[in-house]
Amino acid sequence: MKVLVVGNGGREHALAWKLLQSEQVEQVVCVPGNGGTASMENCQNLPLAVDDFEGISQFAQQENITLVVVGPEVPLAKGITDYLQAKGLMVFGPTKAGAQIEASKVWAKALMREAGIPTGKAAVFTEAAAAKSYVKAQSVPIVVKADGLAAGKGVTVAQTVAAAETAIEAIFQGQFGNAGKFVLIEEFLTGQEVSVLALSDGLTIRPLLPAQDHKRIGEGDTGENTGGMGAYAPAPIATPALMARIQKEVLEKTIAALRAKGIDYRGVLYAGLMITPEGDFNVLEFNCRFGDPETQVILPLLATPLEELILACVQQRLGEMPPIAWKNGSSATVVAASGGYPGNYEKGKVITGIEQVGDLGTTVFHAGTKLHQQQLVTDGGRVLNVTGVGENLDQAIAHAYAGLECIHFQGMYYRRDIGYRVRGIGE
Ligand code: AMP
Ligand code: GLY
Repeated sequence: MKVLVVGNGGREHALAWKLLQSEQVEQVVCVPGNGGTASMENCQNLPLAVDDFEGISQFAQQENITLVVVGPEVPLAKGITDYLQAKGLMVFGPTKAGAQIEASKVWAKALMREAGIPTGKAAVFTEAAAAKSYVKAQSVPIVVKADGLAAGKGVTVAQTVAAAETAIEAIFQGQFGNAGKFVLIEEFLTGQEVSVLALSDGLTIRPLLPAQDHKRIGEGDTGENTGGMGAYAPAPIATPALMARIQKEVLEKTIAALRAKGIDYRGVLYAGLMITPEGDFNVLEFNCRFGDPETQVILPLLATPLEELILACVQQRLGEMPPIAWKNGSSATVVAASGGYPGNYEKGKVITGIEQVGDLGTTVFHAGTKLHQQQLVTDGGRVLNVTGVGENLDQAIAHAYAGLECIHFQGMYYRRDIGYRVRGIGE
């Protein structure tokens, strides 16, 4: 079969790479893809925008694409699934109605309340004055969130009332466009974050291995928030007992609540959870798609062919599938970023050494790269995801860092402490 993958990040390179490992998948087309997907055998890039629904649909129909897998949230929130389904195509990813679970934090919070899903206390505001007086009556730190999609930048953990007020002003002054019509003010939660990505066919929902992301730019989780600087899986903090609770108290309840609203949710439901030291948890956010870079550590460990699982979701027969099978061991990815990211950075730097990464079980997923006159150059803030697998987390982490040492581009930056919470656990 031919599969079309929408998106151009490390997540989409990993999806294409995994799909192509299956004998059933002859060809993958990435829209628009990156330098990594352009260089893979049986994979090609199609230079269309992710929200060019008509162009994508025409190509998919002409080329007999069996399945469309959507990576990013923006086309899902704009209704790519509804559009392509209406043209008779099979699409993995929720409809516009389902994507609200990520596209509106206010909507998601109301759903969690109605369904009794554990989540932080929050209040919603439509104007700055009321939001500011609410903040004054609370204690700090406090969390200020823009309602809509803001490319990961709509959340401020404010350490002072003044910082919260500045964040509220910025949102209502339109810093995030339409994403800022509502502001959500949430209590500050402490603990460790874990990402539980699950596959849903609208009736049945099954978790993938739990992963932990590292969102801050600096070592020790300091500095600005980013799209993610590294990840590992499985995350030992999500013990089997905790995963069983998350399945019952979060995943199944969410799918049931969506069904009660008439939403047949077929795709990935990603729950971002905060785990307390006592082992309780709250949902911080839902995403309507695979996580990036979590996907880059989960997929290398998946033993069941990915397209079988995806087709089972799209055709609503996930409940008939045998349990999802996993390889033994662990996986870790480290993001190589452009100097200056997440602030301003330069593009177009020549990347060398990827071919020397060798076969330690290390794979380089490209994120912000492109081929320019036959040369691989940087083309974004997060450039590469160097991913190691091993018998345990220490080995996986060591393999990722050994791979990174082979690679060079001007200004390359990476965190040296990915997996610091679990290093030594596997010894
Ligand atoms: P979100 O997009 O809601 O996941 O927020 C982005 C990041 O902000 C999360 O991954 C957390 O690191 C942080 N965050 C969000 N909500 C809270 C909260 N209530 N308490 C503490 N940190 C939070
Ligand atoms: N790794 C965070 C996200 O995908 O939203």
